[in-house]
Amino acid sequence: MWEKVTSVSKMLLSLICFFLCTLIAPNLTGNLGEDASLPVPQNVSILSTNMKHFLTWSPVIIQGETVRYSVEFQGEYEREYANESWIPICECSLITASVCNITEDISATVAYNLRVRADTGARRSEWGTLKGFFNRITTSLTPPLMKVIADGCHLLVELEDMGPAFQFCVLYWKKGQEIRMQQKVVKEVSSVVHLDTMEAGHDYCVKAQTYVEAINRSSSFSQEQCVRAQGGTSKWLVAALVSAGFAVAAVTLPLLTWKTSKIFQYSCCPVAVLPDTLKVSEPPMQLILWDSEETEQCDLMVHVMPSEEVLRLWIQETL
Ligand SMILES: *[C@@H]1O[C@H](CO)[C@@H](O)[C@H](O)[C@H]1NC(C)=O
Ligand SMILES: *[C@@H]1O[C@H](CO)[C@@H](O)[C@H](O)[C@H]1NC(C)=O
Ligand SMILES: *[C@@H]1O[C@H](CO)[C@@H](O)[C@H](O)[C@H]1NC(C)=O
Ligand SMILES: *[C@@H]1O[C@H](CO)[C@@H](O)[C@H](O)[C@H]1NC(C)=O
Repeated sequence: MWEKVTSVSKMLLSLICFFLCTLIAPNLTGNLGEDASLPVPQNVSILSTNMKHFLTWSPVIIQGETVRYSVEFQGEYEREYANESWIPICECSLITASVCNITEDISATVAYNLRVRADTGARRSEWGTLKGFFNRITTSLTPPLMKVIADGCHLLVELEDMGPAFQFCVLYWKKGQEIRMQQKVVKEVSSVVHLDTMEAGHDYCVKAQTYVEAINRSSSFSQEQCVRAQGGTSKWLVAALVSAGFAVAAVTLPLLTWKTSKIFQYSCCPVAVLPDTLKVSEPPMQLILWDSEETEQCDLMVHVMPSEEVLRLWIQETL
């Protein structure tokens, strides 16, 4: 009989103890500033676009209290050589936002682990850790924003400045001649880049992709944009003819103009235009010629035949 009573009271005691321990103890330890009294931040995940990385998590809501968060990361080095230590991200220490810009901290192409915990001053949560690792090689790369400009006979492109990690591969071609596509690698963006010298009246198209050397990856290509090269050879032609200074020209001017324009159909702008355009650096419009080889090609294309040559060709063609 007594044995039964004691065993029942023992059971009751242990039940009471169980309730005390599970219900009251956490609150007590919480009030003492121990861990594990706030819910752990959930849905810890990474948003990474164009080498800008953000850690996000679902906010912890506690009625009547401001919840702050602190973020820490662990790179390959900390994991393997520094006793699995974690490094606090100062910019994301006791912040109220539920997002942390971790771009600066992800400085190598290795696997990073990240964690975040909630804090109300008096109470803290356990760490909520990212599921799996984050490697910046998985960043999503978007094609660059660009604007194609026809400046006289010069084909120019203005590329979005996406930061120092970004290079651009620019493809351009005369419309209808896609097989003779040309390529230019732009390593730094400085407003406007000169691509080519165009033939008047023709359409030229451009598309570009970004390339990030640090991760050896490229974006897809942007939509192609086409522009038409403006005319404007006639003024120059007249000038050239006048400078040739032969009397016959005055008589047969219409014929000569027609004839020489045929000869120059596939030539480009007058020499006088190139330096002008290159000099015109209105503040936002700076012309950059990227490598000397290209520059030479461009120079060759705008080279003007001496007037003697024009005359010779004309005579040859007419006779
Ligand atoms: C985590 O994300 C899922 C899906 O987006 C959502 O349903 C859930 O409520 C989130 N958890 C928290 C704690 O907000
Ligand atoms: C590594 O961590 C363990 C436990 O976390 C600790 O006992 C040890 O002293 C640490 N070693 C170093 C070199 O910090
Ligand atoms: C995130 O940090 C990077 C590097 O410091 C900075 O370039 C970028 O503008 C920041 N992004 C935002 C949205 O704060
Ligand atoms: C970059 O990736 C390409 C394949 O996409 C590969 O052929 C090339 O060797 C890589 N370059 C470097 C420096 O890793």
